Amino acid sequence: MSGAAKPLRLGVLLSGRGSNFQAIARSIGEGRLTGVEIAVAVSNVEGAAGLAAAQEMGLPTVLHVSKGRPRAEHDEAMIATLRAHAVDLVCLAGYMRLLSPGFIAAFRNRIVNIHPSLLPAFPGLDAQTQAFEYGVKVAGCTVHFVDEHLDHGAIILQRTVPVLDTDDAHALAERILVEEHKAYSEALARVASGEYEIRGRRYVKRAQ
Ligand code: GRF
Repeated sequence: MSGAAKPLRLGVLLSGRGSNFQAIARSIGEGRLTGVEIAVAVSNVEGAAGLAAAQEMGLPTVLHVSKGRPRAEHDEAMIATLRAHAVDLVCLAGYMRLLSPGFIAAFRNRIVNIHPSLLPAFPGLDAQTQAFEYGVKVAGCTVHFVDEHLDHGAIILQRTVPVLDTDDAHALAERILVEEHKAYSEALARVASGEYEIRGRRYVKRAQ
């Protein structure tokens, strides 16, 4: 990927409220995130609020309901949609379905995800509650490339959030979400710059 004038085309995948997607769209709209454009928003869940928000923004939207459909077959339809919209980079933004190996291979090193914990701690569902109940003093979020393993690929950036004595899991999750919204746009700017390399597991800025 290069930081050339042509913007990187994002395919955003979501399943629910889509607040991360909306934060990305706002960053682009307000000129804080350059070098990327949203090519399409795709949901696997009917009635996802995030997809309605994308429609209201006038963005192309596609619904591929995954419930009851074999994963590989559903993912083939997703891949076809992303290719039809000439997507360069796939952004998982609350996409609550595991990707098939075929999907990951089709967009190798071109899929990013946001997870509401400081990985490798607390992968999987309800990460904020896992962190709260474990009793950590610092929580946060991680934007990372996606590989075949759950919440596992090379880390692009992390943002931290202190856990307060007065917190409950909900309050902590709310404060993590505020940081998620900053982190995703910042990470996309880094990827769009093209000025990085992945050394083993390490995402590093390329020396000038
Ligand atoms: C976020 O907490 C994200 O980190 C996780 O799923 C949640 C999605 O929220 N992967 P939203 O749909 O972006 O509001």
